[in-house]
Amino acid sequence: MCGIVGYTGGKDCVDIIIDGLKKLEYRGYDSAGIAFEEDKGIDILKAVGRVDNLEKLVRAGKVKSHCAIAHTRWATHGKPSVLNSHPHCDCKGEVAIVHNGIIENYDELKKELSSKGHKFASETDSEAAAHLIEEELKKQKDFFKAFASAVKKLKGAYALAATYKNAPGVICVAKKQSPLVIGQGKGEYYLASDVPAFLNHTNKAIFLEDGDLAKITCGACEIYNLAGVKQSRKVNVIKWNPATAQKGGYKHFMIKEIFDQPQATKDTISTLPPDIKKAFGITPAAARKIKGLYIVACGTAYHAGLCAKYVIEHFAKLPVEVETASEFKYRSINFQKDWLFIAVSQSGETADTLAALNNAKQAGLKALSICNVVGSTITRASDYTVYTHCGPEISVASTKAFTSQLAVLYSFALNIAKEQGSLAKTAFDKLYKEFKNLPSLIEQTLKDAQQIKKLAKAVYKSNSYIFLGRNAAFPIALEGALKLKEISYLHAEGFAGGEIKHGPIAIIDKGMPVVALAPKGELYEKMLSSCQEVGARGAKLITVTNTPLKGAVEVPYTNEYLFPILAVVPLQLLAYYVSDLRGREIDRPRNLAKSVTVE
Ligand code: F6R
Repeated sequence: MCGIVGYTGGKDCVDIIIDGLKKLEYRGYDSAGIAFEEDKGIDILKAVGRVDNLEKLVRAGKVKSHCAIAHTRWATHGKPSVLNSHPHCDCKGEVAIVHNGIIENYDELKKELSSKGHKFASETDSEAAAHLIEEELKKQKDFFKAFASAVKKLKGAYALAATYKNAPGVICVAKKQSPLVIGQGKGEYYLASDVPAFLNHTNKAIFLEDGDLAKITCGACEIYNLAGVKQSRKVNVIKWNPATAQKGGYKHFMIKEIFDQPQATKDTISTLPPDIKKAFGITPAAARKIKGLYIVACGTAYHAGLCAKYVIEHFAKLPVEVETASEFKYRSINFQKDWLFIAVSQSGETADTLAALNNAKQAGLKALSICNVVGSTITRASDYTVYTHCGPEISVASTKAFTSQLAVLYSFALNIAKEQGSLAKTAFDKLYKEFKNLPSLIEQTLKDAQQIKKLAKAVYKSNSYIFLGRNAAFPIALEGALKLKEISYLHAEGFAGGEIKHGPIAIIDKGMPVVALAPKGELYEKMLSSCQEVGARGAKLITVTNTPLKGAVEVPYTNEYLFPILAVVPLQLLAYYVSDLRGREIDRPRNLAKSVTVE
Protein backbone atom coordinates (compact mmCIF):
# COMPACT_ATOMS: atom_id res chain seq x y z
CA MET A 1 0.00 0.00 0.00
CA CYS A 2 1.18 3.51 -0.82
CA GLY A 3 -0.55 6.87 -1.11
CA ILE A 4 -0.86 8.96 -4.26
CA VAL A 5 -1.87 12.61 -4.46
CA GLY A 6 -2.13 14.96 -7.44
CA TYR A 7 -3.45 18.36 -8.41
CA THR A 8 -3.91 20.40 -11.58
CA GLY A 9 -5.61 23.78 -11.55
CA GLY A 10 -5.23 27.48 -10.89
CA LYS A 11 -3.96 27.36 -7.31
CA ASP A 12 -0.42 27.05 -6.05
CA CYS A 13 -0.77 23.42 -5.00
CA VAL A 14 2.20 22.86 -2.70
CA ASP A 15 0.16 23.07 0.54
CA ILE A 16 -2.63 20.98 -1.01
CA ILE A 17 -0.18 18.22 -1.93
CA ILE A 18 1.68 18.18 1.39
CA ASP A 19 -1.58 18.16 3.33
CA GLY A 20 -2.91 15.37 1.08
CA LEU A 21 0.22 13.26 1.63
CA LYS A 22 -0.08 13.67 5.40
CA LYS A 23 -3.68 12.47 5.24
CA LEU A 24 -2.48 9.35 3.41
CA GLU A 25 0.42 8.51 5.70
CA TYR A 26 -1.66 5.66 7.12
CA ARG A 27 -1.03 3.99 3.72
CA GLY A 28 2.75 4.24 3.95
CA TYR A 29 5.36 6.40 5.53
CA ASP A 30 8.85 5.13 4.78
CA SER A 31 9.60 7.83 2.21
CA ALA A 32 7.78 10.48 0.21
CA GLY A 33 8.30 12.52 -2.93
CA ILE A 34 6.75 15.10 -5.20
CA ALA A 35 7.08 15.90 -8.93
CA PHE A 36 5.96 19.43 -9.63
CA GLU A 37 5.76 21.32 -12.86
CA GLU A 38 7.62 24.56 -12.98
CA ASP A 39 8.64 26.84 -15.83
CA LYS A 40 11.59 24.76 -17.05
CA GLY A 41 10.00 21.35 -16.76
CA ILE A 42 9.45 18.83 -14.00
CA ASP A 43 11.29 19.07 -10.71
CA ILE A 44 11.45 16.28 -8.19
CA LEU A 45 12.04 16.31 -4.44
CA LYS A 46 12.21 13.16 -2.31
CA ALA A 47 12.96 12.35 1.30
CA VAL A 48 13.26 9.19 3.37
CA GLY A 49 10.93 8.92 6.36
CA ARG A 50 7.74 10.76 7.06
CA VAL A 51 6.13 13.47 4.93
CA ASP A 52 7.46 16.07 7.40
CA ASN A 53 10.95 15.45 6.00
CA LEU A 54 9.74 16.09 2.45
CA GLU A 55 7.90 19.19 3.62
CA LYS A 56 11.16 20.65 4.97
CA LEU A 57 12.78 20.24 1.53
CA VAL A 58 9.78 21.72 -0.25
CA ARG A 59 9.67 24.73 2.09
CA ALA A 60 13.43 25.26 1.81
CA GLY A 61 13.16 25.15 -1.99
CA LYS A 62 10.29 27.71 -1.94
CA VAL A 63 8.48 25.49 -4.43
CA LYS A 64 5.48 26.87 -6.30
CA SER A 65 3.46 24.90 -8.84
CA HIS A 66 0.01 24.52 -10.38
CA CYS A 67 0.34 20.87 -11.32
CA ALA A 68 2.00 18.14 -9.28
CA ILE A 69 1.89 14.45 -8.43
CA ALA A 70 3.21 13.01 -5.18
CA HIS A 71 3.56 9.79 -3.28
CA THR A 72 4.04 8.45 0.23
CA ARG A 73 5.61 5.02 0.10
CA TRP A 74 5.29 1.69 1.85
CA ALA A 75 8.13 -0.26 0.30
CA THR A 76 7.37 -3.44 -1.62
CA HIS A 77 10.23 -3.79 -4.12
CA GLY A 78 13.45 -2.24 -2.91
CA LYS A 79 14.30 -0.88 0.53
CA PRO A 80 13.13 2.54 1.72
CA SER A 81 15.64 5.03 0.25
CA VAL A 82 15.68 8.24 -1.75
CA LEU A 83 16.42 6.34 -4.96
CA ASN A 84 13.56 3.92 -4.46
CA SER A 85 11.03 6.53 -3.40
CA HIS A 86 8.59 7.91 -5.95
CA PRO A 87 8.19 9.80 -8.27
CA HIS A 88 10.28 7.86 -10.78
CA CYS A 89 11.44 9.30 -14.08
CA ASP A 90 12.30 8.19 -17.57
CA CYS A 91 15.91 8.49 -18.77
CA LYS A 92 15.54 12.16 -19.76
CA GLY A 93 13.71 13.29 -16.63
CA GLU A 94 10.76 14.41 -18.77
CA VAL A 95 8.18 11.87 -17.60
CA ALA A 96 7.42 11.42 -13.90
CA ILE A 97 5.24 8.71 -12.44
CA VAL A 98 3.85 7.68 -9.05
CA HIS A 99 2.48 4.19 -8.53
CA ASN A 100 0.64 2.19 -5.93
CA GLY A 101 0.35 -1.57 -6.43
CA ILE A 102 2.64 -4.25 -7.78
CA ILE A 103 3.74 -4.49 -11.41
CA GLU A 104 4.06 -8.25 -11.72
CA ASN A 105 5.86 -8.29 -15.08
CA TYR A 106 8.42 -5.62 -14.11
CA ASP A 107 11.31 -8.04 -14.41
CA GLU A 108 10.48 -8.80 -18.04
CA LEU A 109 9.77 -5.13 -18.78
CA LYS A 110 13.04 -4.06 -17.17
CA LYS A 111 15.02 -6.56 -19.23
CA GLU A 112 13.29 -5.52 -22.44
CA LEU A 113 13.65 -1.79 -21.78
CA SER A 114 17.28 -2.14 -20.64
CA SER A 115 18.07 -3.94 -23.89
CA LYS A 116 16.71 -0.86 -25.68
CA GLY A 117 19.13 1.34 -23.73
CA HIS A 118 16.98 2.51 -20.81
CA LYS A 119 18.89 3.13 -17.59
CA PHE A 120 17.12 2.26 -14.35
CA ALA A 121 17.92 4.26 -11.23
CA SER A 122 15.97 2.33 -8.60
CA GLU A 123 15.23 -1.23 -7.46
CA THR A 124 11.49 -0.68 -7.77
CA ASP A 125 8.94 -2.37 -10.00
CA SER A 126 7.29 1.03 -10.56
CA GLU A 127 10.14 2.68 -12.46
CA ALA A 128 9.44 0.41 -15.43
CA ALA A 129 6.24 2.40 -16.07
CA ALA A 130 8.17 5.67 -16.59
CA HIS A 131 10.53 4.09 -19.13
CA LEU A 132 7.65 2.36 -20.85
CA ILE A 133 5.89 5.71 -21.35
CA GLU A 134 9.16 7.19 -22.65
CA GLU A 135 9.40 4.32 -25.14
CA GLU A 136 5.80 4.83 -26.31
CA LEU A 137 6.39 8.58 -26.69
CA LYS A 138 9.00 7.71 -29.33
CA LYS A 139 6.19 6.16 -31.37
CA GLN A 140 3.70 8.90 -30.80
CA LYS A 141 3.73 12.45 -29.47
CA ASP A 142 0.32 12.50 -27.79
CA PHE A 143 1.02 12.04 -24.07
CA PHE A 144 -2.30 10.40 -23.19
CA LYS A 145 -2.12 7.96 -26.11
CA ALA A 146 1.45 7.01 -25.26
CA PHE A 147 0.46 6.61 -21.60
CA ALA A 148 -2.47 4.34 -22.59
CA SER A 149 -0.22 2.15 -24.78
CA ALA A 150 2.24 1.81 -21.91
CA VAL A 151 -0.49 0.87 -19.42
CA LYS A 152 -1.69 -1.91 -21.72
CA LYS A 153 1.71 -3.57 -21.27
CA LEU A 154 1.51 -3.61 -17.47
CA LYS A 155 0.48 -6.73 -15.60
CA GLY A 156 -0.50 -6.68 -11.95
CA ALA A 157 -2.11 -4.01 -9.81
CA TYR A 158 -1.73 -0.29 -10.28
CA ALA A 159 -2.98 3.13 -9.43
CA LEU A 160 -0.69 5.09 -11.68
CA ALA A 161 -0.33 8.82 -12.33
CA ALA A 162 2.06 10.48 -14.76
CA THR A 163 3.08 13.94 -15.90
CA TYR A 164 5.15 14.94 -18.92
CA LYS A 165 7.30 18.00 -19.52
CA ASN A 166 5.80 18.60 -22.97
CA ALA A 167 2.19 18.37 -21.76
CA PRO A 168 1.98 21.02 -19.04
CA GLY A 169 -1.05 20.87 -16.75
CA VAL A 170 -1.93 17.32 -17.85
CA ILE A 171 -2.00 14.36 -15.46
CA CYS A 172 -2.66 10.91 -16.94
CA VAL A 173 -3.92 8.21 -14.60
CA ALA A 174 -4.83 4.53 -14.75
CA LYS A 175 -6.40 2.17 -12.26
CA LYS A 176 -6.47 -1.59 -11.80
CA GLN A 177 -6.99 -3.24 -8.42
CA SER A 178 -5.49 -0.35 -6.45
CA PRO A 179 -7.70 2.57 -5.41
CA LEU A 180 -7.75 5.87 -7.27
CA VAL A 181 -10.25 8.67 -6.89
CA ILE A 182 -10.51 12.04 -8.62
CA GLY A 183 -11.75 15.13 -6.77
CA GLN A 184 -13.61 17.70 -8.81
CA GLY A 185 -13.19 21.37 -7.89
CA LYS A 186 -13.97 24.56 -9.82
CA GLY A 187 -11.44 24.81 -12.65
CA GLU A 188 -9.27 22.24 -10.89
CA TYR A 189 -8.98 18.51 -10.28
CA TYR A 190 -7.49 16.54 -7.44
CA LEU A 191 -6.26 13.00 -7.50
CA ALA A 192 -5.74 10.61 -4.61
CA SER A 193 -5.62 7.03 -3.37
CA ASP A 194 -8.29 7.95 -0.86
CA VAL A 195 -10.82 10.75 -0.43
CA PRO A 196 -9.43 12.29 2.80
CA ALA A 197 -6.46 13.59 0.82
CA PHE A 198 -8.64 16.25 -0.83
CA LEU A 199 -11.75 16.36 1.35
CA ASN A 200 -10.78 19.74 2.82
CA HIS A 201 -10.97 21.21 -0.72
CA THR A 202 -13.84 19.40 -2.42
CA ASN A 203 -16.37 16.74 -1.51
CA LYS A 204 -17.08 15.81 -5.14
CA ALA A 205 -15.42 12.50 -5.92
CA ILE A 206 -15.22 10.36 -9.04
CA PHE A 207 -14.23 6.78 -8.19
CA LEU A 208 -12.35 5.21 -11.09
CA GLU A 209 -13.08 1.59 -11.92
CA ASP A 210 -10.63 -1.15 -12.82
CA GLY A 211 -9.44 -0.68 -16.39
CA ASP A 212 -10.13 3.08 -16.39
CA LEU A 213 -7.65 5.57 -17.78
CA ALA A 214 -8.14 9.31 -17.40
CA LYS A 215 -6.67 12.47 -18.83
CA ILE A 216 -6.99 15.25 -16.29
CA THR A 217 -6.45 18.95 -16.94
CA CYS A 218 -7.63 21.95 -14.95
CA GLY A 219 -10.81 22.15 -17.02
CA ALA A 220 -11.69 18.53 -17.81
CA CYS A 221 -11.43 14.93 -16.75
CA GLU A 222 -11.89 12.53 -19.65
CA ILE A 223 -12.19 8.86 -18.75
CA TYR A 224 -11.61 5.97 -21.20
CA ASN A 225 -11.35 2.22 -20.97
CA LEU A 226 -8.32 0.28 -22.20
CA ALA A 227 -9.94 -0.11 -25.62
CA GLY A 228 -10.10 3.69 -25.93
CA VAL A 229 -13.88 3.97 -25.48
CA LYS A 230 -15.02 7.01 -23.47
CA GLN A 231 -16.59 6.15 -20.09
CA SER A 232 -18.90 8.15 -17.92
CA ARG A 233 -18.47 7.93 -14.18
CA LYS A 234 -20.74 9.36 -11.52
CA VAL A 235 -19.67 12.37 -9.45
CA ASN A 236 -20.37 11.38 -5.84
CA VAL A 237 -20.95 13.86 -3.05
CA ILE A 238 -19.00 12.66 -0.03
CA LYS A 239 -20.65 13.32 3.31
CA TRP A 240 -17.78 12.14 5.53
CA ASN A 241 -16.43 14.28 8.26
CA PRO A 242 -12.80 15.06 7.26
CA ALA A 243 -11.58 14.09 10.76
CA THR A 244 -12.81 10.48 10.52
CA ALA A 245 -12.27 10.10 6.79
CA GLN A 246 -8.72 8.82 7.16
CA LYS A 247 -10.15 5.64 8.57
CA GLY A 248 -12.14 5.31 5.34
CA GLY A 249 -15.28 6.29 7.23
CA TYR A 250 -14.78 3.48 9.78
CA LYS A 251 -14.88 4.26 13.48
CA HIS A 252 -11.49 2.69 14.20
CA PHE A 253 -8.42 1.57 12.26
CA MET A 254 -8.95 -1.95 13.58
CA ILE A 255 -12.32 -2.41 11.88
CA LYS A 256 -10.97 -0.76 8.73
CA GLU A 257 -8.04 -3.19 8.76
CA ILE A 258 -10.38 -6.16 9.26
CA PHE A 259 -12.22 -5.02 6.15
CA ASP A 260 -8.89 -4.43 4.34
CA GLN A 261 -8.21 -8.19 4.48
CA PRO A 262 -9.53 -9.15 1.04
CA GLN A 263 -7.19 -6.56 -0.52
CA ALA A 264 -4.25 -7.32 1.79
CA THR A 265 -4.41 -11.06 1.08
CA LYS A 266 -4.94 -10.39 -2.62
CA ASP A 267 -1.82 -8.21 -2.79
CA THR A 268 0.12 -10.80 -0.81
CA ILE A 269 -1.06 -13.78 -2.85
CA SER A 270 -0.28 -11.94 -6.09
CA THR A 271 3.41 -12.21 -5.11
CA LEU A 272 3.19 -15.95 -4.41
CA PRO A 273 3.21 -17.90 -7.66
CA PRO A 274 3.02 -21.70 -7.45
CA ASP A 275 6.81 -21.93 -7.68
CA ILE A 276 9.04 -22.17 -4.60
CA LYS A 277 11.96 -20.33 -6.22
CA LYS A 278 9.85 -17.45 -7.49
CA ALA A 279 7.71 -17.14 -4.37
CA PHE A 280 10.29 -17.85 -1.62
CA GLY A 281 13.68 -17.56 -3.29
CA ILE A 282 14.44 -21.19 -2.31
CA THR A 283 15.63 -23.40 -5.16
CA PRO A 284 13.79 -26.72 -5.66
CA ALA A 285 17.04 -28.54 -4.88
CA ALA A 286 17.43 -26.67 -1.58
CA ALA A 287 13.75 -27.24 -0.78
CA ARG A 288 14.17 -30.99 -1.22
CA LYS A 289 17.02 -31.01 1.31
CA ILE A 290 14.93 -29.45 4.09
CA LYS A 291 14.24 -32.09 6.72
CA GLY A 292 12.19 -30.05 9.18
CA LEU A 293 11.24 -26.56 10.30
CA TYR A 294 11.56 -24.36 13.36
CA ILE A 295 8.92 -21.63 13.28
CA VAL A 296 9.39 -18.88 15.83
CA ALA A 297 7.35 -15.74 16.47
CA CYS A 298 5.43 -13.83 19.15
CA GLY A 299 1.77 -13.20 19.91
CA THR A 300 -0.45 -13.19 16.87
CA ALA A 301 2.44 -14.06 14.55
CA TYR A 302 3.11 -17.09 16.78
CA HIS A 303 -0.47 -18.23 16.21
CA ALA A 304 0.12 -17.98 12.46
CA GLY A 305 3.20 -20.18 12.91
CA LEU A 306 1.31 -22.68 15.04
CA CYS A 307 -1.41 -22.94 12.43
CA ALA A 308 1.25 -23.48 9.76
CA LYS A 309 2.59 -26.47 11.74
CA TYR A 310 -0.66 -28.36 11.14
CA VAL A 311 -0.78 -27.35 7.49
CA ILE A 312 2.88 -28.23 6.76
CA GLU A 313 2.73 -31.51 8.67
CA HIS A 314 -0.42 -32.45 6.79
CA PHE A 315 0.68 -31.57 3.26
CA ALA A 316 4.47 -31.81 3.36
CA LYS A 317 4.84 -34.52 6.04
CA LEU A 318 7.78 -32.61 7.52
CA PRO A 319 8.33 -32.27 11.26
CA VAL A 320 7.67 -28.73 12.51
CA GLU A 321 8.59 -27.24 15.89
CA VAL A 322 6.80 -24.01 16.74
CA GLU A 323 7.56 -21.87 19.72
CA THR A 324 7.17 -18.36 21.04
CA ALA A 325 10.44 -16.53 20.52
CA SER A 326 10.73 -15.47 24.16
CA GLU A 327 10.94 -19.16 25.17
CA PHE A 328 12.81 -20.50 22.16
CA LYS A 329 15.78 -18.20 22.60
CA TYR A 330 16.54 -19.57 26.10
CA ARG A 331 16.35 -23.26 25.23
CA SER A 332 19.44 -25.39 24.83
CA ILE A 333 18.60 -26.69 21.43
CA ASN A 334 20.62 -29.23 19.60
CA PHE A 335 19.82 -27.57 16.27
CA GLN A 336 19.17 -29.86 13.33
CA LYS A 337 21.40 -28.39 10.60
CA ASP A 338 19.16 -29.47 7.75
CA TRP A 339 16.09 -27.77 9.23
CA LEU A 340 14.96 -24.35 8.01
CA PHE A 341 14.30 -21.61 10.53
CA ILE A 342 11.24 -19.42 9.88
CA ALA A 343 10.67 -16.12 11.70
CA VAL A 344 7.22 -14.55 11.39
CA SER A 345 6.86 -10.89 12.32
CA GLN A 346 4.62 -8.08 11.13
CA SER A 347 7.00 -5.34 12.21
CA GLY A 348 10.22 -7.22 11.53
CA GLU A 349 11.60 -5.53 14.65
CA THR A 350 10.40 -7.74 17.51
CA ALA A 351 13.43 -8.18 19.76
CA ASP A 352 12.55 -11.70 20.98
CA THR A 353 12.05 -12.97 17.44
CA LEU A 354 15.28 -11.37 16.30
CA ALA A 355 17.21 -12.94 19.20
CA ALA A 356 15.83 -16.41 18.38
CA LEU A 357 16.68 -15.90 14.71
CA ASN A 358 20.24 -14.90 15.60
CA ASN A 359 20.62 -18.06 17.73
CA ALA A 360 19.55 -20.21 14.80
CA LYS A 361 21.85 -18.33 12.40
CA GLN A 362 24.78 -18.78 14.77
CA ALA A 363 24.06 -22.51 14.80
CA GLY A 364 24.45 -22.44 11.01
CA LEU A 365 20.80 -22.68 9.96
CA LYS A 366 19.31 -20.94 6.95
CA ALA A 367 16.52 -18.55 7.89
CA LEU A 368 13.40 -17.40 6.09
CA SER A 369 11.51 -14.40 7.42
CA ILE A 370 7.91 -13.46 6.76
CA CYS A 371 7.52 -9.75 7.50
CA ASN A 372 5.38 -6.79 6.55
CA VAL A 373 7.95 -4.02 6.82
CA VAL A 374 10.45 -3.86 3.99
CA GLY A 375 14.06 -3.58 5.08
CA SER A 376 13.24 -4.25 8.77
CA THR A 377 15.94 -5.73 11.02
CA ILE A 378 14.62 -9.31 10.89
CA THR A 379 14.57 -9.28 7.08
CA ARG A 380 18.15 -8.07 7.00
CA ALA A 381 19.26 -10.90 9.26
CA SER A 382 17.55 -13.57 7.12
CA ASP A 383 18.70 -15.57 4.11
CA TYR A 384 15.28 -15.43 2.47
CA THR A 385 12.44 -12.96 3.01
CA VAL A 386 8.86 -13.01 1.85
CA TYR A 387 6.74 -9.97 2.47
CA THR A 388 3.12 -9.75 3.38
CA HIS A 389 1.71 -6.85 1.37
CA CYS A 390 -0.75 -5.39 3.85
CA GLY A 391 0.44 -1.81 3.98
CA PRO A 392 0.97 -0.32 7.41
CA GLU A 393 -1.06 -1.87 10.20
CA ILE A 394 -1.99 1.05 12.41
CA SER A 395 -4.21 -0.60 14.99
CA VAL A 396 -2.16 -2.25 17.74
CA ALA A 397 -4.22 -5.45 17.48
CA SER A 398 -2.95 -7.31 14.47
CA THR A 399 -5.59 -8.51 11.98
CA LYS A 400 -4.71 -8.08 8.32
CA ALA A 401 -1.07 -8.98 8.94
CA PHE A 402 -2.23 -12.25 10.53
CA THR A 403 -4.35 -13.43 7.60
CA SER A 404 -1.60 -12.46 5.17
CA GLN A 405 1.00 -14.35 7.25
CA LEU A 406 -1.30 -17.38 7.13
CA ALA A 407 -1.57 -16.97 3.35
CA VAL A 408 2.23 -16.91 2.95
CA LEU A 409 2.64 -19.94 5.21
CA TYR A 410 -0.10 -21.85 3.41
CA SER A 411 1.61 -21.16 0.08
CA PHE A 412 4.89 -22.30 1.61
CA ALA A 413 3.27 -25.52 2.86
CA LEU A 414 1.91 -26.38 -0.59
CA ASN A 415 5.11 -25.44 -2.42
CA ILE A 416 7.39 -27.40 -0.12
CA ALA A 417 4.98 -30.36 -0.18
CA LYS A 418 5.22 -30.37 -3.96
CA GLU A 419 9.03 -30.22 -3.91
CA GLN A 420 9.27 -32.94 -1.26
CA GLY A 421 7.10 -35.17 -3.42
CA SER A 422 4.34 -35.48 -0.84
CA LEU A 423 1.79 -33.62 -2.96
CA ALA A 424 1.11 -34.73 -6.52
CA LYS A 425 0.97 -32.08 -9.25
CA THR A 426 -2.81 -32.44 -9.82
CA ALA A 427 -3.61 -32.16 -6.11
CA PHE A 428 -1.21 -29.21 -5.80
CA ASP A 429 -2.83 -27.39 -8.74
CA LYS A 430 -6.30 -27.91 -7.30
CA LEU A 431 -5.29 -26.70 -3.84
CA TYR A 432 -3.42 -23.71 -5.26
CA LYS A 433 -6.45 -22.70 -7.30
CA GLU A 434 -8.60 -22.78 -4.17
CA PHE A 435 -5.93 -20.79 -2.32
CA LYS A 436 -5.94 -18.05 -4.99
CA ASN A 437 -9.64 -17.60 -4.41
CA LEU A 438 -9.10 -16.87 -0.72
CA PRO A 439 -9.46 -13.04 -0.93
CA SER A 440 -12.94 -13.33 -2.40
CA LEU A 441 -13.88 -15.91 0.28
CA ILE A 442 -12.72 -13.46 2.97
CA GLU A 443 -14.85 -10.81 1.30
CA GLN A 444 -17.83 -13.16 1.46
CA THR A 445 -17.12 -13.89 5.13
CA LEU A 446 -17.12 -10.18 5.93
CA LYS A 447 -20.67 -9.91 4.63
CA ASP A 448 -21.78 -11.56 7.90
CA ALA A 449 -20.41 -8.71 10.02
CA GLN A 450 -23.91 -7.69 11.12
CA GLN A 451 -24.61 -11.19 12.41
CA ILE A 452 -21.44 -11.01 14.51
CA LYS A 453 -22.43 -7.58 15.78
CA LYS A 454 -25.74 -9.03 17.00
CA LEU A 455 -23.93 -11.91 18.71
CA ALA A 456 -21.59 -9.40 20.35
CA LYS A 457 -24.61 -7.51 21.69
CA ALA A 458 -25.86 -10.74 23.23
CA VAL A 459 -22.60 -11.56 25.03
CA TYR A 460 -20.63 -8.36 25.65
CA LYS A 461 -21.63 -8.09 29.32
CA SER A 462 -19.86 -11.36 30.15
CA ASN A 463 -16.52 -11.02 31.85
CA SER A 464 -15.07 -14.33 30.69
CA TYR A 465 -14.93 -16.04 27.27
CA ILE A 466 -13.71 -19.42 26.05
CA PHE A 467 -12.58 -20.33 22.52
CA LEU A 468 -12.28 -23.93 21.33
CA GLY A 469 -10.67 -25.41 18.24
CA ARG A 470 -8.98 -28.58 17.10
CA ASN A 471 -6.19 -29.29 14.66
CA ALA A 472 -5.37 -26.27 12.42
CA ALA A 473 -8.30 -24.37 13.98
CA PHE A 474 -6.83 -24.71 17.50
CA PRO A 475 -4.38 -21.79 16.98
CA ILE A 476 -7.36 -19.74 15.76
CA ALA A 477 -9.07 -20.37 19.10
CA LEU A 478 -5.91 -18.99 20.77
CA GLU A 479 -5.92 -16.01 18.40
CA GLY A 480 -9.64 -15.31 18.99
CA ALA A 481 -8.96 -15.23 22.73
CA LEU A 482 -5.86 -13.04 22.35
CA LYS A 483 -7.70 -10.56 20.15
CA LEU A 484 -10.54 -10.27 22.63
CA LYS A 485 -8.38 -9.93 25.72
CA GLU A 486 -6.00 -7.36 24.28
CA ILE A 487 -8.66 -4.89 23.19
CA SER A 488 -11.51 -5.57 25.64
CA TYR A 489 -9.37 -6.27 28.76
CA LEU A 490 -11.73 -9.17 29.52
CA HIS A 491 -10.71 -12.68 30.46
CA ALA A 492 -10.53 -14.92 27.38
CA GLU A 493 -8.83 -18.27 26.89
CA GLY A 494 -8.38 -20.61 23.99
CA PHE A 495 -8.24 -24.39 24.38
CA ALA A 496 -7.92 -27.44 22.20
CA GLY A 497 -11.44 -28.86 21.95
CA GLY A 498 -10.40 -32.26 23.29
CA GLU A 499 -8.54 -30.77 26.22
CA ILE A 500 -11.38 -29.03 28.06
CA LYS A 501 -12.57 -32.22 29.71
CA HIS A 502 -9.10 -32.50 31.31
CA GLY A 503 -9.65 -29.45 33.48
CA PRO A 504 -10.86 -26.24 31.88
CA ILE A 505 -14.48 -27.43 31.73
CA ALA A 506 -14.60 -26.73 35.47
CA ILE A 507 -14.81 -22.99 34.76
CA ILE A 508 -17.78 -23.27 32.37
CA ASP A 509 -20.69 -21.59 34.00
CA LYS A 510 -24.26 -20.77 33.00
CA GLY A 511 -24.28 -18.09 30.33
CA MET A 512 -20.49 -18.12 29.72
CA PRO A 513 -19.83 -17.44 26.00
CA VAL A 514 -17.96 -20.32 24.33
CA VAL A 515 -16.87 -19.88 20.73
CA ALA A 516 -16.32 -23.24 19.00
CA LEU A 517 -14.59 -23.65 15.64
CA ALA A 518 -16.04 -26.66 13.82
CA PRO A 519 -15.03 -27.08 10.18
CA LYS A 520 -16.56 -29.94 8.24
CA GLY A 521 -13.96 -32.69 8.11
CA GLU A 522 -12.40 -35.45 10.10
CA LEU A 523 -12.89 -33.79 13.49
CA TYR A 524 -16.31 -32.19 12.90
CA GLU A 525 -18.27 -34.68 15.01
CA LYS A 526 -15.63 -34.59 17.75
CA MET A 527 -15.90 -30.82 17.88
CA LEU A 528 -19.69 -31.00 18.07
CA SER A 529 -19.38 -33.31 21.06
CA SER A 530 -17.08 -30.79 22.78
CA CYS A 531 -19.84 -28.24 22.07
CA GLN A 532 -22.38 -30.50 23.71
CA GLU A 533 -20.18 -30.96 26.75
CA VAL A 534 -20.01 -27.21 27.35
CA GLY A 535 -23.60 -26.63 26.18
CA ALA A 536 -24.83 -29.09 28.83
CA ARG A 537 -23.16 -26.89 31.47
CA GLY A 538 -25.13 -23.84 30.34
CA ALA A 539 -22.51 -22.17 28.08
CA LYS A 540 -23.78 -19.69 25.50
CA LEU A 541 -22.40 -21.36 22.36
CA ILE A 542 -21.26 -19.53 19.26
CA THR A 543 -20.26 -22.07 16.62
CA VAL A 544 -18.21 -21.08 13.59
CA THR A 545 -18.40 -23.66 10.83
CA ASN A 546 -18.34 -24.02 7.04
CA THR A 547 -21.40 -26.18 6.63
CA PRO A 548 -25.09 -25.39 7.24
CA LEU A 549 -25.76 -25.68 11.00
CA LYS A 550 -28.67 -24.03 12.77
CA GLY A 551 -27.72 -20.83 14.59
CA ALA A 552 -24.04 -21.10 13.60
CA VAL A 553 -21.82 -18.53 11.91
CA GLU A 554 -21.10 -20.03 8.50
CA VAL A 555 -17.97 -19.18 6.53
CA PRO A 556 -17.52 -20.38 2.92
CA TYR A 557 -16.63 -24.04 2.51
CA THR A 558 -12.98 -24.83 1.73
CA ASN A 559 -10.59 -27.63 2.59
CA GLU A 560 -10.06 -27.86 6.35
CA TYR A 561 -6.59 -26.28 6.21
CA LEU A 562 -7.82 -23.05 4.64
CA PHE A 563 -10.69 -22.82 7.14
CA PRO A 564 -8.50 -21.09 9.80
CA ILE A 565 -7.90 -18.07 7.53
CA LEU A 566 -11.64 -17.58 7.13
CA ALA A 567 -12.66 -18.57 10.66
CA VAL A 568 -10.47 -15.95 12.29
CA VAL A 569 -12.45 -13.15 10.60
CA PRO A 570 -15.66 -13.56 12.68
CA LEU A 571 -13.45 -13.85 15.78
CA GLN A 572 -11.71 -10.56 14.98
CA LEU A 573 -15.13 -8.97 14.44
CA LEU A 574 -16.45 -10.39 17.71
CA ALA A 575 -13.47 -9.00 19.62
CA TYR A 576 -13.96 -5.64 17.94
CA TYR A 577 -17.70 -5.33 18.55
CA VAL A 578 -17.53 -6.56 22.17
CA SER A 579 -14.77 -4.03 22.89
CA ASP A 580 -16.63 -1.25 21.13
CA LEU A 581 -19.77 -2.00 23.15
CA ARG A 582 -17.56 -1.84 26.24
CA GLY A 583 -16.31 1.58 25.09
CA ARG A 584 -12.64 0.58 24.93
CA GLU A 585 -9.78 2.51 23.27
CA ILE A 586 -9.65 -0.06 20.48
CA ASP A 587 -6.76 1.14 18.34
CA ARG A 588 -4.50 1.83 21.31
CA PRO A 589 -5.26 -0.67 24.05
CA ARG A 590 -3.76 0.04 27.46
CA ASN A 591 -0.27 -1.31 28.21
CA LEU A 592 0.39 -2.43 24.63
CA ALA A 593 2.72 -1.14 21.91
CA LYS A 594 2.63 -1.92 18.21
CA SER A 595 6.22 -2.96 18.00
CA VAL A 596 7.98 -4.65 20.93
CA THR A 597 11.66 -3.86 20.43
CA VAL A 598 12.84 -4.84 23.91
CA GLU A 599 13.42 -8.40 25.08
C1 F6R B 1 -1.48 -8.99 18.76
C2 F6R B 1 -0.23 -8.38 18.41
C3 F6R B 1 1.03 -8.93 19.02
C4 F6R B 1 2.07 -9.12 17.92
C5 F6R B 1 3.42 -9.54 18.53
C6 F6R B 1 4.46 -9.80 17.46
O1 F6R B 1 -2.55 -8.38 18.13
O2 F6R B 1 -0.20 -7.48 17.63
O3 F6R B 1 0.79 -10.12 19.68
O4 F6R B 1 1.60 -10.08 17.03
O5 F6R B 1 3.89 -8.55 19.40
O6 F6R B 1 4.69 -8.67 16.70
P1 F6R B 1 5.40 -8.77 15.28
O7 F6R B 1 4.49 -9.54 14.39
O8 F6R B 1 5.59 -7.35 14.84
O9 F6R B 1 6.69 -9.51 15.51
